[in-house]
Amino acid sequence: MTVDYGMCARRLLRRCVVIYLVSVTLIQSKDVTMVIGEVGGAVTLPCISDLQRLPIHLYIQRPDPDEFINGYHKTRDLPSPHPDYANRTQVDHTQGTMKLWSIRLSDEGLYECHIGYPTKNNQENIQLNVTANYSIPNVTVACDNGRCLVTCSSDNGYPRRDVEWSLNPPLNQSTWGAVNSSEVRDPASMLFSVFSSISVNCSSGLRLNLSCAVGGALSQEHTVCRPPDISVVSVISAVSVIAAVLLCFLVLVSNSKKKKAHTARGTQGGKGAASSDENVQLT
Ligand SMILES: *[C@@H]1O[C@H](CO)[C@@H](O)[C@H](O)[C@H]1NC(C)=O
Ligand SMILES: *[C@@H]1O[C@H](CO)[C@@H](O)[C@H](O)[C@H]1NC(C)=O
Ligand SMILES: *[C@@H]1O[C@H](CO)[C@@H](O)[C@H](O)[C@H]1NC(C)=O
Ligand SMILES: *[C@@H]1O[C@H](CO)[C@@H](O)[C@H](O)[C@H]1NC(C)=O
Ligand SMILES: *[C@@H]1O[C@H](CO)[C@@H](O)[C@H](O)[C@H]1NC(C)=O
Ligand SMILES: *[C@@H]1O[C@H](CO)[C@@H](O)[C@H](O)[C@H]1NC(C)=O
Ligand SMILES: *[C@@H]1O[C@H](CO)[C@@H](O)[C@H](O)[C@H]1NC(C)=O
Ligand SMILES: *[C@@H]1O[C@H](CO)[C@@H](O)[C@H](O)[C@H]1NC(C)=O
Repeated sequence: MTVDYGMCARRLLRRCVVIYLVSVTLIQSKDVTMVIGEVGGAVTLPCISDLQRLPIHLYIQRPDPDEFINGYHKTRDLPSPHPDYANRTQVDHTQGTMKLWSIRLSDEGLYECHIGYPTKNNQENIQLNVTANYSIPNVTVACDNGRCLVTCSSDNGYPRRDVEWSLNPPLNQSTWGAVNSSEVRDPASMLFSVFSSISVNCSSGLRLNLSCAVGGALSQEHTVCRPPDISVVSVISAVSVIAAVLLCFLVLVSNSKKKKAHTARGTQGGKGAASSDENVQLT
């Protein structure tokens, strides 16, 4: 019974705070302070930029529909923080701030700070935008019949970004083109994964360095379209290496045959061998 009563009272209080806030809303300026946070990170929402005296109250809520997030009141008990923000927010009335951590994509949007002083009320609006860094893009290359299919994929970023290709040296658009691109959104995290593939015609004979970027994340550089003359050169050098090895082998074989013939003659008659040595030395 006491628990039920407590919950009721808290709900009522939350509604009262919201109603109170709505009724005293004095939009003093349409100025909105921009704050950017990263998914999983933390931000400090600056409700009072110029703190000269301590406020009596400091409430933070989100509009449409009005939702009490967290707050401070000098003398009154306030409702507990909104469940979505429980253990993720901390109001510091001495700094005029609310800290928010373990940021989620759903935290993106407008926040209103309602600040009460003995003689007046103030409202500050803060727009929180959330970002998430895309992963370093993976590049795959598959070449066939003078044509290379290159794909680029990057995961878990926000907001949505296009895949940007960079070819070095730059090629005419006629020699390469986008084949396919897609994006998927993780239903739980709502983060984007993006994918793009291009086809490159290698008939220009240029060796091409290629990379892709997604929202600041840059892939490694990949070399595609090895010019045919390079492979001809390597075939020629491979052939000449084999020929040289073969030649050496033949020379060695014939030398060892000659030596065997010499030693065979040497065992038959020491004099004959010695004289032939002398002959060699003389000539
Ligand atoms: C907040 O933290 C308290 C104590 O650490 C815990 O009991 C409670 O379940 C947490 N609430 C949420 C919504 O995580
Ligand atoms: C902040 O997000 C809103 C949409 O939620 C967008 O229209 C606006 O351009 C963003 N601003 C910045 C600076 O990223
Ligand atoms: C995201 O990228 C920005 C800019 O490149 C960088 O300052 C920040 O540390 C990155 N965040 C994470 C979590 O890697
Ligand atoms: C990139 O490659 C790594 C390792 O192969 C893999 O773990 C990761 O999921 C890949 N990312 C994408 C976007 O394909
Ligand atoms: C690109 O096209 C222009 C004319 O359309 C031509 O002069 C130039 O050589 C081409 N460049 C390459 C790398 O093919
Ligand atoms: C485009 O990519 C999707 C997903 O990888 C694949 O199912 C589809 O076959 C691709 N289309 C073309 C024309 O390559
Ligand atoms: C590549 O481009 C050349 C002309 O530049 C064309 O003759 C050839 O058919 C193209 N190759 C492929 C595989 O599309
Ligand atoms: C391509 O990359 C290689 C190795 O990183 C480099 O030696 C070469 O100069 C690059 N080519 C161009 C056209 O940038």
